[in-house]
Amino acid sequence: MNKFALTFGILTVVLINACKKKEDSTEITAVQRTFSGRIDLDRLHSYAGQSRPAYITLDNSGANPISDKGATLGRVLFYDKQLSVNNNISCASCHLQQYAFSDTSVVSKGVNGTTGRHSMRLVNNRFSQEMKYFWNERANSLEEQTTMPIQDHNEMGYSGENGDPDINDLIAKLSQIDYYKELFKFVYGSEEITEVKMQNALSHFVRSIQSFDSKYDLGRSSVGADGPPFPNFTQQENMGKNLFLAAPVFDNQGKRTGGGLGCQGCHRAPEFGIDPNTKNNGIINSLAGGFDLFNTKSPGLRDLVGKDGNPNGPMMHTGQFKDLKTLIGHYGNIVVGPNNNNLDPRLTPNGFGQQLQLNQTEVDAVIAFLKTLTGTNVYIDEKWSNPF
Ligand code: HEC
Ligand code: HEC
Repeated sequence: MNKFALTFGILTVVLINACKKKEDSTEITAVQRTFSGRIDLDRLHSYAGQSRPAYITLDNSGANPISDKGATLGRVLFYDKQLSVNNNISCASCHLQQYAFSDTSVVSKGVNGTTGRHSMRLVNNRFSQEMKYFWNERANSLEEQTTMPIQDHNEMGYSGENGDPDINDLIAKLSQIDYYKELFKFVYGSEEITEVKMQNALSHFVRSIQSFDSKYDLGRSSVGADGPPFPNFTQQENMGKNLFLAAPVFDNQGKRTGGGLGCQGCHRAPEFGIDPNTKNNGIINSLAGGFDLFNTKSPGLRDLVGKDGNPNGPMMHTGQFKDLKTLIGHYGNIVVGPNNNNLDPRLTPNGFGQQLQLNQTEVDAVIAFLKTLTGTNVYIDEKWSNPF
């Protein structure tokens, strides 16, 4: 009798618990409802634990190292059009995954007009000695950069100027959105949204975007240095690599008489980020008219071209070069503009604009080399894709 009562009792408890469990799992959260499986808080994508080649030693994460939770929130913010005043523009409107997070248009469309410069690729930002952001380095850190487009009148519109709402209005708006209540609680332990939390999460996401599965990486890891020929490269690619890496030899009129093209002096392998101390490279026009002498940063040269071998977008802050041949031609013949008092001295040997005296074989070779810097995963990996 006792035994029977006990068994019955246990069965009842088991049954009640089973029902409870069922109830719990049918209670759909806002995150589940909004992202239908594309974001699963129990199974986050790996952002923090990604491997990178041993020869990649730079890391500018500083006091804000990537976490899977933060990058997941960052991904939602990056793709959310509600971050703009008219709910039409997200970061991803101008930074498209299929173009290495840049844009194919010369300027990109924001809520109140177009951008003043070409959009920048966002690949391997973490692995760069340059810590400043934008073509003209006006943001002192990635964290600072991430909420600047939101507060730009043209781009996302929360500027607080000329009748625009400001960032606090945006925070009030986002605080009403149920999936943000869950996500901020999940990441920071509290639903409260602040600009700093948004900056940290967006930076986790942007820094997580990495590309190390290129032909270059395969060669670099098999040889252990940049200099020796890579066994997986064609002769032309190896020649292009030498030209990219080696400094030119000039005569006293700035004409190249030997050596390479000196690209490595500013765009440094193996990360291909830019030397933090460059001045401008002779591209000094402003798209708004007049001169713009302080564009001294370039996006990293990885994934400059897409898998089809065409540039992922027009190049330079002006977007004035649509193909690599014209771009190399610019460096072949540096014109010292009378207004340009900020031209990098590496491009003016003995005070003359450099004349690289390029021949077709050299141009083709350096182009072939630049194409080896393109990976595949960054264009398709779900963890960087639109979760909406
Ligand atoms: C309307 C288009 C547009 C939107 C929206 C936009 N960007 Fe950009 N982004 C650009 C342009 C254009 C530049 C270069 C601007 C400049 O240097 O003046 C840029 C530059 C950047 C850079 C600097 C990269 C570097 O190497 O220095 C980062 C990082 C970035 N954007 C991230 C974001 C994030 C995060 C968001 C969303 C919060 C965002 N962008 C929204 C167009 C846009
Ligand atoms: C003195 C430093 C310096 C040297 C040397 C140099 N560059 Fe640049 N490069 C820059 C700067 C600065 C920019 C950004 C210019 C701008 O848009 O205003 C840039 C931009 C670029 C871009 C455009 C990137 C993009 O996303 O639009 C490419 C490609 C490039 N350089 C390739 C090369 C190659 C190839 C060489 C060698 C032939 C070279 N660079 C030599 C400083 C340099």
